[in-house]
Amino acid sequence: MEAVSRTAQWTAAARALETEREDRLFADPYARTVADQIGFELLDRYAGGGTVPFLAIRTTYLDRAIVRAVEERGIRQVVFLAAGMDTRFFRLPWPDGVTVYELDRPALLEAKAEMLAKEPKPAGRDRITVPVDLTQDWTGPLKEAGWKSEEPVLWVVEGLLFFLPEQAVRTLISTLSAHAAPGSVLLGDVISKAALENPLARGFMKALDEDGNPWLFGTEEPEALLADCGWAVREVRQPGEDGADFGRWPYPVPPRSVPRVPRSFLFTCELPEANGYEEAAA
Ligand SMILES: C[S@@+](CC[C@H](N)C(=O)[O-])C[C@H]1O[C@@H](n2cnc3c(N)ncnc32)[C@H](O)[C@@H]1O
Repeated sequence: MEAVSRTAQWTAAARALETEREDRLFADPYARTVADQIGFELLDRYAGGGTVPFLAIRTTYLDRAIVRAVEERGIRQVVFLAAGMDTRFFRLPWPDGVTVYELDRPALLEAKAEMLAKEPKPAGRDRITVPVDLTQDWTGPLKEAGWKSEEPVLWVVEGLLFFLPEQAVRTLISTLSAHAAPGSVLLGDVISKAALENPLARGFMKALDEDGNPWLFGTEEPEALLADCGWAVREVRQPGEDGADFGRWPYPVPPRSVPRVPRSFLFTCELPEANGYEEAAA
């Protein structure tokens, strides 16, 4: 497995810890298995800065937004970009007829398949893994796997964008809007540039760098980034704000007007239905 793919075991370890709390926000019964020992070692190595509460919040925010998107909008294609050790296919209450596509590096998908080989496939839904490099053409392999670009899709880009150079981030998010039918939704997260430069996070950044997974991208203006790349932004939330706290965030949240604050952003975007535009214009 590539070094960057190990970080998927790190985030899985954080989900295992949340699952094992009595007041858990979600249950990911597979997290401990897919995290393996290395995931917990990385949790120690990359400790600090609110990582564990942040990952509990991010998972909860996205779990709820994903369930809403498929229930309320009737979306039946869900694509996890850089799915890593995500096990939502097994643990979320999907409606019948949903197909979940998991995109990631080939070696990670092979390791995950081995670790989850004994898990029975839940009825009424399909899971298709697509080995890709998300900085190269990946829409071709996704189409070959069965994804229909003419139907609405839910894209989830969780825990990926900070690993990519800015141009690759822009290309990826623009590709997502260019290949999405009206009614599609994009969910994900991004950090601020100040988070990359935070003196208090130097040890964490150095460890990521030494391990071959440097964090490269952040922005203070996620709304502008997403809009520039073709999306209608419906919500951007920082952990600790209403709708993204869940009783987990231990720090104050300075207003967005305060400069040079390390921040994480959770976002919900959509491509409105054609008649949505007409109603808005009327
Ligand atoms: C921090 S993990 C996040 C995994 C999962 N989404 C989560 O939140 O737990 C980052 C993931 O990005 C994947 N990744 C990084 N660069 C990639 C690329 N160029 N193409 C495909 N996957 C990539 C890694 O393999 C890894 O699974």
